[in-house]
Amino acid sequence: MKRLMVVTGGGDCPGLNAVIRAIVKRASQEKDWEVIGCIESFNGVLREPTEVVVLDNDSVSGILIQGGTIIGTTNKGGPFAYPVKRSDGTWETVDVSDQMIRKLQYMGVDAVINIGGDGSQRISKALYDKGLNIIGVPKTIDNDLSMTDFTFGFQTAVQIATEAVDKLVTTAASHNRIFVLEVMGRDAGWIALNAAIAGGADVCVIPEIPYDINKIKEKIESRYKKGRGFCIIVVAEGSRNARGEKVGLKADEPGYSNFKLGGIGQTLKLELQQAGVEHDIRVSVLGHLQRGGTPIAYDRVLASEFGVKAFELAKSGEFGKMVAYKHPDIIAVTLEEALKEPHLVSPDSFLVQTAKGLGIEFGG
Ligand code: F6P
Repeated sequence: MKRLMVVTGGGDCPGLNAVIRAIVKRASQEKDWEVIGCIESFNGVLREPTEVVVLDNDSVSGILIQGGTIIGTTNKGGPFAYPVKRSDGTWETVDVSDQMIRKLQYMGVDAVINIGGDGSQRISKALYDKGLNIIGVPKTIDNDLSMTDFTFGFQTAVQIATEAVDKLVTTAASHNRIFVLEVMGRDAGWIALNAAIAGGADVCVIPEIPYDINKIKEKIESRYKKGRGFCIIVVAEGSRNARGEKVGLKADEPGYSNFKLGGIGQTLKLELQQAGVEHDIRVSVLGHLQRGGTPIAYDRVLASEFGVKAFELAKSGEFGKMVAYKHPDIIAVTLEEALKEPHLVSPDSFLVQTAKGLGIEFGG
């Protein structure tokens, strides 16, 4: 019997369960494969007693439409920076990757499928370099992994952000207000740009295009020419403020290395007021609503394709690869290629050209 271990790492994302289900369903068609799930990213193997669960057709029944992940996840720590509490109560991070690989051998794990974003796939690559049979599946609402047209979860996040724009339009129009909607995406503007186009926003601020606040002000004033008016601004959380700084908080949790983005919406409001905008400005932060809940059909399909493909790679022993979508195919790329550079919005892309053609102001 061959043993395959599935891991979900990083922030949760709609479609994780659909990938798990697809792996298990496909594996169950083979007589000599069994699947286990590691609880809370790699923590389940790193902990004593070990926390893993058997995944079979019964355990994945009904999870296709469920948000989150049935095996849990974390974006803190990992085998290369595992948080350990010192006797004085402070924390340190320790590299426990070699112990983990030895433990996986002892557990009889023949292959690992790691479903996660760029941070998780960096861990996949480092573990592969140490000899672990590992395959990556690209997950993130941010869509910032290269070598794949889309990551699963992204389209669901865009749908949720678009619905938020739709709702803000009616309240903004009723009150003649400016609404700033802050959406996720880390250093990529994909969610903001797509939601701005789909929702008919007036301004879109993304990290890839630095803005001049006066250009945004001009756009706003053009929306109030006849006295009454309203304006919808979609801003990506990773956009830099007028001084070129990211807005957020330094991580303070043990093992959590990400800068906690958040607050550019409020910053933009202040900058607009300082630039002389007198209309009422309100800020909505969509936050984790964008990654909770059920995946839309598109992401269920993509996640299922990724899951089946990942199992095929495990079966044929193609490790050190990440599954990827290159329309119309699902392919395998090396983890090295996938991690070379982030997938960001190109200011010269047709998507940006489309937004500009629709009159959306980027401020840059
Ligand atoms: O990477 C996905 C994402 O949701 C980002 O869009 C966001 O900046 C980050 O994760 C938030 O992560 P956390 O789970 O730590 O709040």
